[in-house]
Amino acid sequence: MSKIKVGVAGYGVIGQRLADGVARQGDMELVGVADLAPTLSIRALKEKGMPYDLYLVDGADKSQFDAVGIPVSGTFEELIDKVDIMLDSSPGGVGAKNKELYVKHNKKAIFQGGEKNSVADVFFHGYANYEKGIGQNYLKLTSCNTTGLIRSVDCLDRAYGIEKVAITIIRRVADPGDYHRGLTNALQMDKAPSHQAVDLMTIMPHIEATGILVHTPVTHGHIITVVAKGKQKITKQMALDAFLTHDRIRVVTIDEGFKGNASFFRYARDLGNPRGDMYEIGLWADSIVESGDDIMYAINIPQESVTIPETMDGIRAACNMETDRLKAVAETNKYLGLGKWK
Ligand SMILES: NC(=O)c1ccc[n+]([C@@H]2O[C@H](COP(=O)([O-])OP(=O)(O)OC[C@H]3O[C@@H](n4cnc5c(N)ncnc54)[C@H](O)[C@@H]3O)[C@@H](O)[C@H]2O)c1
Repeated sequence: MSKIKVGVAGYGVIGQRLADGVARQGDMELVGVADLAPTLSIRALKEKGMPYDLYLVDGADKSQFDAVGIPVSGTFEELIDKVDIMLDSSPGGVGAKNKELYVKHNKKAIFQGGEKNSVADVFFHGYANYEKGIGQNYLKLTSCNTTGLIRSVDCLDRAYGIEKVAITIIRRVADPGDYHRGLTNALQMDKAPSHQAVDLMTIMPHIEATGILVHTPVTHGHIITVVAKGKQKITKQMALDAFLTHDRIRVVTIDEGFKGNASFFRYARDLGNPRGDMYEIGLWADSIVESGDDIMYAINIPQESVTIPETMDGIRAACNMETDRLKAVAETNKYLGLGKWK
């Protein structure tokens, strides 16, 4: 099978990582990326020697790119023409507008969490509902928190059956380097139920879910605590056994030094991972507790990189590259080096 040709729209926090993720897949080709302005990320792309061709979306001022010597390979529509599938990681809401062009050029697309669910045919998660994405034209990925949350709940659900979950999300307020949320030192409440719990029920309708979200003035990852009720009692050992088998869940302990969200960020940098990224969620073995018949645990969500593997799964599903869920996620995991720490 020839390589599936992929383009990325919006070379921001997520788009850079999607481009890198595609470039690592041996059976996919990254044709190029599209953006609107010579942002710092685009300037860094140029300083790195343009490993990815750049195309300009409508409204971009080419003279601004020329002025700083950034080579441009063509227009957004030219990029769309060359690919089998677009990954849209433009700002939330812009993807719905870009979709008009994907439809016009009869191309598949995968949107990120900031778009409305109505932008796509399927709300997608590589592990939980891979089969629903097979052969579809438009997928929407779950948001970062939902992606990681579903990984862990799906893991227990497939092993033992889950009836109900209640979550608390301690949410990082912005990404590292962001200024648009100001310099803050306060916690902020969201109205319940959190969208992540509602989204989980959309993807896993057999599970009743609810939850509360608290914004915190940190940037290195969200932490979610989950209380889950199994169809049978799930002991601490049963939960641990299941989590340890999952290649996108890194089971750690506080005693090893994983004290919190920042420990994961530092560890990823020590590993030499580009930008301090981690594709896997962290799960503290010493956070797993039994509460009556329920099981409770805490996970770390590296918000900038967690949705990349499930997006690669989405390409495999939408482009009919693989119809078997486990084979598909295993291919993605192989190319991204997931599970290699075991
Ligand atoms: N940042 C996160 O932690 C995170 C996590 C998961 C999902 N998401 C979702 O991913 C999507 C992208 O978020 P982000 O944080 O990467 O945003 P971002 O602001 O970092 O990047 C968006 C990029 O799109 C470019 N752009 C602007 N208009 C465009 C257009 N018309 N067409 C193409 N590109 C355009 C911008 O110049 C920018 O480079 C959103 O749906 C968001 O909700 C973000």
